[in-house]
Amino acid sequence: MSSGSGAATSSAQVPAPAPGDAPLLSVDDLHMWFPITSGLILERHVGDVRAVDGVSFDIRRGETLGLVGESGCGKSTTGRAILRLYHPTGGSVMFDGVDLTKLEGEPLRRMRRRMQMIFQDPYASLNPRMTVGGIVGEPLAVHGIGSHAERRERVAELLDVVGLNPNFLNRYPHEFSGGQRQRIGVARALAVNPDLIIADEPISALDVSIQAQIINLLEKLQDEFHLTYLFIAHDLSVVRHVSDRIAVMYLGRIVEMVGSRELYERPLHPYSVALLSAVPIPDPEVEKHRRRIILTGDVPSPASPPSGCHFHTRCWLRERLGNPERCVAEDPVLRPLSSGHQVACHFAEEVDGSAEQVLQVTGRAAAPSATAPVVPTPPSAAAPSAAAPPPRPRGRG
Ligand SMILES: Nc1ncnc2c1ncn2[C@@H]1O[C@H](COP(=O)(O)OP(=O)(O)OP(=O)(O)O)[C@@H](O)[C@H]1O
Ligand code: SF4
Ligand SMILES: [Mg+2]
Repeated sequence: MSSGSGAATSSAQVPAPAPGDAPLLSVDDLHMWFPITSGLILERHVGDVRAVDGVSFDIRRGETLGLVGESGCGKSTTGRAILRLYHPTGGSVMFDGVDLTKLEGEPLRRMRRRMQMIFQDPYASLNPRMTVGGIVGEPLAVHGIGSHAERRERVAELLDVVGLNPNFLNRYPHEFSGGQRQRIGVARALAVNPDLIIADEPISALDVSIQAQIINLLEKLQDEFHLTYLFIAHDLSVVRHVSDRIAVMYLGRIVEMVGSRELYERPLHPYSVALLSAVPIPDPEVEKHRRRIILTGDVPSPASPPSGCHFHTRCWLRERLGNPERCVAEDPVLRPLSSGHQVACHFAEEVDGSAEQVLQVTGRAAAPSATAPVVPTPPSAAAPSAAAPPPRPRGRG
């Protein structure tokens, strides 16, 4: 699959989608701010947690967009706001031409049937008091689909599809392993034949030996049912293998969005370069020369994000450039640097070909920057990741 669909904000400079390639989901300037109040009797609005602060992206039918970033950057909130589990405080979410932010009641319920979520924790996300038949069949019951007997038949079919024994219908979640539970979660998500699945860190709670199985299952199902995925992860090594494109998120905003392969071959945002430096390359020769970029300082609070570029308090590039005032004063927009490659950094051109970028991408023994704080990649991280499944045969990144 080709990459190239861009955020609505800069669609004029990104190649137009091919005919019939219209996005299934189009998120434009999405905001999800949670109010902070103070006072017991007279509650006053004293601020907001800006969990999602102006996010825009498209996902075409059948495409997988990986959404990646550190803990707390707003990934899950983005997913929940899209599915209208939260009511966004701003922006639009066009799903198959309908703005979900404007829907309520029955029309919203009907659209929800076409979008499902797979949750991170297969232990907490399945009701321990319900049988597998009840859990997987619940969305069918909620949407009034089929008779009781038809629903049981469909559940057995779904269990088979996700690689579980259809006779497990009457068992309870505690009788299953983590990987099997996540398969139950996948079967539940598939029950109502959705178009879009938001998979929120679907493998991070699983043993590494099981992670690849679930990834392979999701890929098989995508091919079989022509599913569209928003795949959320905090680990770049996981999203690489499943995503057509990747959006890198930092403190409520997308800072880089590009085809999966290009992100690994030519990251252009200093934050992406730092994230990439933590991903081992399964080649001992290359890995020997790589150095991890350690970001200084804590992740700022989304209740009081830094002015200008949200990343300026931790940016190695800014430091190297002599701390330009522009980073503090001016908010960088997500701008296209090449076809389908968008970056929110005033100085992204400086990243291209820099020692840090070259070192992370090729492992070539470029001299580490005098100012970028680097440490050797720990030996454990230098080993090929067992979590990383083999690359997709269909030419993904
Ligand atoms: N209901 C809520 N009320 C107030 N703040 C919230 C709420 N939900 C999330 N937040 C805050 O919004 C920010 C983003 O949270 P979110 O769960 O989206 O992050 P995340 O990227 O999914 O992190 P993780 O990788 O840890 O799952 C965090 O600072 C979080 O504390
Ligand atoms: S705009 Fe400045 S602070 Fe932000 S990523 Fe670019 S160089 Fe760093
Ligand atoms: Mg999350």
